[in-house]
Amino acid sequence: MASNEKLAEKMEFPPDTPQPNIYPLSWVRKTQKMEEIWASSQREQWDPAKLSWDTFDPSRYSWEERESIAYWWTLLSVFDASAPPVFAQALIKTYEDHEEDPVRRCFFSVTRDEQNHEQMCGLAITRLLDHPDALTYAPKTDLGMKLQRNVRWLYYNGARYWEGYKKAVPKYNLSVLFSSFLMGEIAAATIFHQMAKGCEEIVFQEAFRLIGRDEGRHMAICMALMERDYPDLTDQDKDTITKQIRAGYLFLSAVLFEPPVEFWDLPEDFIPVQQQAEAVARAAGFGIPSRETKLENWRNAMLNLKGILDRYDTPFPAIPEVGISGKEILDVEMDEIIPVF
Ligand SMILES: [Fe+2]
Ligand SMILES: [Fe+2]
Repeated sequence: MASNEKLAEKMEFPPDTPQPNIYPLSWVRKTQKMEEIWASSQREQWDPAKLSWDTFDPSRYSWEERESIAYWWTLLSVFDASAPPVFAQALIKTYEDHEEDPVRRCFFSVTRDEQNHEQMCGLAITRLLDHPDALTYAPKTDLGMKLQRNVRWLYYNGARYWEGYKKAVPKYNLSVLFSSFLMGEIAAATIFHQMAKGCEEIVFQEAFRLIGRDEGRHMAICMALMERDYPDLTDQDKDTITKQIRAGYLFLSAVLFEPPVEFWDLPEDFIPVQQQAEAVARAAGFGIPSRETKLENWRNAMLNLKGILDRYDTPFPAIPEVGISGKEILDVEMDEIIPVF
């Protein structure tokens, strides 16, 4: 049919709109919990540019310290800078699926929050390095040179999943996506809580406290959606979720613990170099948790998630790295994971 053909001249009502179409013309409100979370996201909005930046003087640190702290923020950005497009894509899906109005709003709030977190990474890095990114920055110390090589490998690895994610979003229903999101949110809430406790800089304490509060809300959104949808999961959905949890563990371990070799393609000295930077940052009052504390926290976060999935009879994957037994998952592919933060 020619696109300029006027159907309205021939019929009283238009033909049915093919689905999925991008916009629901409706505002159904069923999940009360989501209304509450949305309201708190409105109350708790913050602006990274308005934190106490005037108390922060990077020149009181040595260049090695500045490069080491900036490295940690860059490592975080590998996850936080991909979060806005990842959640924007999920937000589009809530419109295509004609999700409830409060669900759409909650995903919108997550997208906005993650954009804030990404801005925060950028503000910290830019001040620390006196340059807007760690990739094109000219390192000033030997450690800085090695860290830049680490960053290049992190960037390469982190970039690999976007095509897979775009394919995964239409394939899975939202409840399957939530399980991966929840994994990221639990991980995020854990790390920011630790960092807020361990940092001496006021501006970093403020940021970590606010980011941690946002992540707690994101967790609550996932939980509310699981409560709504998980009672109706199919066995196939459950299988996918189990696999995604294992993939999420491998992906997020890079920031929560150490990047596992079976998933992350990194040079041999990557971890020792990172540990060196962490020691420098720690001594300068930037409280990155010790290896043992990270392992302990990551394990607790996983047990937390396992408790939630157990409630819905969804098998948990084996995570021998932190001493959790479960369903053996061997075939994790980079191109089919749904990793978020
Ligand atoms: Fe975040
Ligand atoms: Fe988040």
